[in-house]
Amino acid sequence: MTLEESRSLGRAVFAQSFSTEPDGVWQAPGRVNIIGEHTDYQLGYCLPMAIGARTVVAARRRADGVVRAYSKNLEAWAEGEIAHLEPGPRGQWFNYVLGMVAETGCPGGVDLAIGGDLPLGAGVSSSAALEMAVGHALNDLFGLGLTATGLALAGQRAEHRFAGVATGILDQFASALGQPRCALFLDTRQRHATPVPFQPEEAGLALALVDTRAERRLVGGGYQVRVDEAERAAAALGVSHLRDADPAAVEELGDPILRGRARHIVSENRRVLAVVEASSRGEWSVVGEALYASHRSLALDYEVSHPALDRVVEVARSTEGVFGARMTGGGFGGSAIVLLETLAEQDLRAGLARAWAEAGWEPPRCMLVHASAGAGRADGGAGAC
Ligand code: GLA
Repeated sequence: MTLEESRSLGRAVFAQSFSTEPDGVWQAPGRVNIIGEHTDYQLGYCLPMAIGARTVVAARRRADGVVRAYSKNLEAWAEGEIAHLEPGPRGQWFNYVLGMVAETGCPGGVDLAIGGDLPLGAGVSSSAALEMAVGHALNDLFGLGLTATGLALAGQRAEHRFAGVATGILDQFASALGQPRCALFLDTRQRHATPVPFQPEEAGLALALVDTRAERRLVGGGYQVRVDEAERAAAALGVSHLRDADPAAVEELGDPILRGRARHIVSENRRVLAVVEASSRGEWSVVGEALYASHRSLALDYEVSHPALDRVVEVARSTEGVFGARMTGGGFGGSAIVLLETLAEQDLRAGLARAWAEAGWEPPRCMLVHASAGAGRADGGAGAC
């Protein structure tokens, strides 16, 4: 969705919900992670990009310390108070809103109307996009003076303290700092993002996002179990984070589960560096092979894939003109990415439709994604991106 579409949508939803004009409209994109999965909470490398699908927030200050929000996509209202900022029951969307109000140190109340075209629960970071859009709105409305990185870190704290999930910084950094035509090389130890050109389009290629529509829940245990296992593997290896683990020592680990978890993270960090290098040289077959290798590692060593994600990769492999494919995001369902010749898109779609019909699953959604700008104002006010 374009900035102009975001602005009109935000204004319309706000007017319908609050019967008045908003003070402004902000937006934040979802992301796909090209490679570097489950590395961020062990201070490794990731290579995400922001995509064109966005969450839109239209907002207006209130004088009474009340925080009210309406989500158009969920058709739901929620309300809280600045004086009593506490998370509600786990899994509630409003926790992300309250979390941002708390973690940005916002001093006043606000009305928020939320909409957009980012699918929820598809593994493209709808929660981080909500956090970054709300965060930008509060930052501008109350003059909080936070940088994009500061907002991303506030979003991570909101995940930890209000959503109860110990995520890394991948999603918030991608949504906050994305740039058109670029991926972001994240060094999560340095909390630093370097934009690197990522333009498969120049070689007649494209990145397809396949939402398997298999149910996926981060707030549901599997993710946290992996975070804990990775910590135990690091402790067993005597390093503070698996970023520093020696590959030979990993193979000596006695516990096969911890060995697999550590092997994935160590090898995935190497693959990120290889993909940064290869994509800058236009070596797309090298990039594609790294995507396949990443998927194998996530499925076998890290055990976060899902039958529907594995099926996307199988269909991709048997489609002519495909360079590589892998699950993207936390896993356990959600979405996969496929690097392919633009002309192969129809064959990929047909192959997926056949496979999904055979399995009796709800049809997947497939769209081409392009590296897009990060979060900011959608209505050209101060702080526009
Ligand atoms: C989720 C988390 C991220 C990251 C990915 C896996 O998206 O929010 O911090 O750990 O899973 O790479």
